Amino acid sequence: MGRLNSYGVMGVLVLALLGTCHGELKMGFYDKTCPNAEKIVSDFMKEHIPKVPILAASFLRMHFHDCFVRGCDGSVLLNSTSNSTSEKEANPNLTLRGFDQIDRVKVLVEAECPGVVSCADILALSARDSVGVLGGPFWKVPTGRRDGSVSLRAEANAQIPAPTNNFTTLKESFANKSLSVKDLVLLSGGHTIGIARCTSFSRRLYNFTGVGDQDPSMDSNYVANLKQRKCRTQTDNTTIVEMDPGSFRTFDLSYYRLVLKRRGLFTSDAALITDSTSKSLVEDLTNGTPEDFFKEFAKSMVKMGEIDVKTGSSGEIRKHCAFVNS
Ligand SMILES: *[C@@H]1O[C@H](CO)[C@@H](O)[C@H](O)[C@H]1NC(C)=O
Ligand SMILES: *[C@@H]1O[C@H](CO)[C@@H](O)[C@H](O)[C@H]1NC(C)=O
Ligand SMILES: *[C@@H]1O[C@H](CO)[C@@H](O)[C@H](O)[C@H]1NC(C)=O
Ligand SMILES: *[C@@H]1O[C@H](CO)[C@@H](O)[C@H](O)[C@H]1NC(C)=O
Ligand SMILES: *[C@@H]1O[C@H](CO)[C@@H](O)[C@H](O)[C@H]1NC(C)=O
Ligand SMILES: *[C@@H]1O[C@H](CO)[C@@H](O)[C@H](O)[C@H]1NC(C)=O
Ligand SMILES: *[C@@H]1O[C@H](CO)[C@@H](O)[C@H](O)[C@H]1NC(C)=O
Repeated sequence: MGRLNSYGVMGVLVLALLGTCHGELKMGFYDKTCPNAEKIVSDFMKEHIPKVPILAASFLRMHFHDCFVRGCDGSVLLNSTSNSTSEKEANPNLTLRGFDQIDRVKVLVEAECPGVVSCADILALSARDSVGVLGGPFWKVPTGRRDGSVSLRAEANAQIPAPTNNFTTLKESFANKSLSVKDLVLLSGGHTIGIARCTSFSRRLYNFTGVGDQDPSMDSNYVANLKQRKCRTQTDNTTIVEMDPGSFRTFDLSYYRLVLKRRGLFTSDAALITDSTSKSLVEDLTNGTPEDFFKEFAKSMVKMGEIDVKTGSSGEIRKHCAFVNS
């Protein structure tokens, strides 16, 4: 009995510790200190995304990138300094746009309540709201993140999963951030509104194993179509291709249907059906309703948004998202 009790006490302690780690972000963190913060972000997204829908994918990807490098601390938003090259300059194949817009949202929020709302939170909210504008789910985003002061290109290149990654590598890089295979499958669903440069996948079309061949795991009709109509040469580094053609302005399930038809553009998309667990998750999603997908996607986004966050008195609230406070 004594032993059982002490285990019981330990269990409670462990739970309490976990509770404080996760409890530092909370829903409506700015309810009292900046009650309009979330509305300012969402109004901005409602106004601008319909004009430039591709910004939605940028904000989603930017938040993902932010969280995978040093935790969700706004490091992706920092400009390079004379000393160091920042994450913004990482991986030219996946050039992120929309930094200016985030900086503009920050200016609006600062005008309302100076020095209160972090850039990391503005980014998390922007990602949520831009998905909503394109017909995806709305979910509550826990806030209270604080901003970091370090941003290094080398870390981004090393830690952000690449379009050329296979399942093993993807699983490992997600596991490194405490994200599961299910999270991998769900977060990949963001590609429903994604675009890609030919260079991110042209090897699959032209020179997969270095003998002028194509990737046999890609639908050969689709390969022919892409070569004829989009990526006409292997070195085309300007053409942009929709990842979910026909519906890339709508946040929906069609990305997963394409992946099952072997029409995922990236090796990392095709990878989702090379593992049986992951493949059945994709199948389950396509057999379910959009609402089922939305609910699960939101959960994975919240989980991603908690990676290594700075809260309390660590970090700072940046005045400008591109620069650390001086
Ligand atoms: C910060 O970087 C962005 C994009 O890299 C650039 O457009 C902007 O001009 C930079 N801001 C300043 C003040 O240097
Ligand atoms: C640049 O490096 C110097 C010396 O290592 C350091 O004192 C300074 O804080 C750095 N500046 C920035 C912007 O990182
Ligand atoms: C996946 O990619 C990694 C890194 O490139 C490689 O070492 C590994 O062999 C690959 N795994 C499979 C199953 O192809
Ligand atoms: C996962 O983390 C380990 C330990 O830091 C690192 O060596 C490995 O390269 C990481 N794997 C991936 C795919 O990011
Ligand atoms: C970026 O594109 C180059 C070719 O332009 C390719 O060699 C490289 O593997 C690509 N990187 C990633 C991460 O896809
Ligand atoms: C295909 O890849 C191989 C090995 O990387 C390279 O030697 C060859 O020049 C490439 N072929 C073309 C047409 O680019
Ligand atoms: C595209 O390729 C051309 C010629 O190879 C090169 O000059 C240019 O810098 C490349 N652009 C990008 C965005 O990589």
